Amino acid sequence: MTIGTTMDRSATPPMNQTSTATGETGYQTVRTPDDTGHPARLKAQDVSVFYGDKQALFDVSIDIPEKAVSAFIGPSGCGKSTFLRCINRMNDTIEGCRVTGKVALDGDNLYDPSLDVVELRARIGMVFQKPNPFPKSIFENVAYGPRIHGLARNKSDLEEIVVTSLQKAGLFEEVKDRLHSPGTGLSGGQQQRLCIARAIAVGPEVILMDEPCSALDPIATAIIEELIDELRTNYTIVIVTHSMQQAARVSQKTAFFHLGKLIEEGPTEAIFTNPREKRTQDYITGRIG
Ligand SMILES: Nc1ncnc2c1ncn2[C@@H]1O[C@H](COP(=O)(O)OP(=O)(O)O)[C@@H](O)[C@H]1O
Ligand SMILES: [Mg+2]
Repeated sequence: MTIGTTMDRSATPPMNQTSTATGETGYQTVRTPDDTGHPARLKAQDVSVFYGDKQALFDVSIDIPEKAVSAFIGPSGCGKSTFLRCINRMNDTIEGCRVTGKVALDGDNLYDPSLDVVELRARIGMVFQKPNPFPKSIFENVAYGPRIHGLARNKSDLEEIVVTSLQKAGLFEEVKDRLHSPGTGLSGGQQQRLCIARAIAVGPEVILMDEPCSALDPIATAIIEELIDELRTNYTIVIVTHSMQQAARVSQKTAFFHLGKLIEEGPTEAIFTNPREKRTQDYITGRIG
């Protein structure tokens, strides 16, 4: 984050500003006129989510920039995870959950009925709050995806994918002598990096992370945050976090949710230093949440 960039950009006229002057925006989201400088990879349009009769998310529209980190923040229960799951159709797995609206990756509608969801989840990988390695070896945890997706022609191909994925996840050096030991024997932070390696192994373009550090100690958290910062060179990353400090440290774009609505989104620097909406201001200063 460079203040200079944000300041320069704020001088440019709004492209798609939808806010009203009063801040009484109802279902509309306030968009800061400047953007992160990255082209949009994903576009969500009027996404609503219902669990049975209960609406949990209301008309969310947002662009997710390519090769950058976007952070979703907001009080518990505001719909961050619900919206994140819309991006790789994980809500399909929840009975009674219904999604309306549109989510597109490079213009392709992810809710197209003919779309192969397994394939989609390889392109848009996910890392969960609690590290969830399979009860298998470190090697097998990473090899599993490439094997079922037929990404390796032979054993040495597969080994190479496993090693490179572990390297990209910043774990290889720590585990290279025990690749055949159980993944569950690793520390929490290592398990989370193993899950990141597992996601990377199938060649995703987007990685979704739902509070990936909330079960980790501060040192393991710092390592994952550094890793996220490195990964954004090659991947589009969306992270849900309850930590505003984490959002400020790792993201270039921040979206603030409240009571199922996207209240405000924009470059992280602008959201934290100069929010336009009172509700955002109240949240980042600790008055709500
Ligand atoms: N599987 C589910 N079934 C029913 N309601 C759910 C389910 N998951 C989430 N919700 C509800 O949807 C709302 C948003 O939840 P969630 O997306 O988990 O919020 P956050 O991740 O911001 O804490 C909450 O009111 C929550 O109770
Ligand atoms: Mg959540």
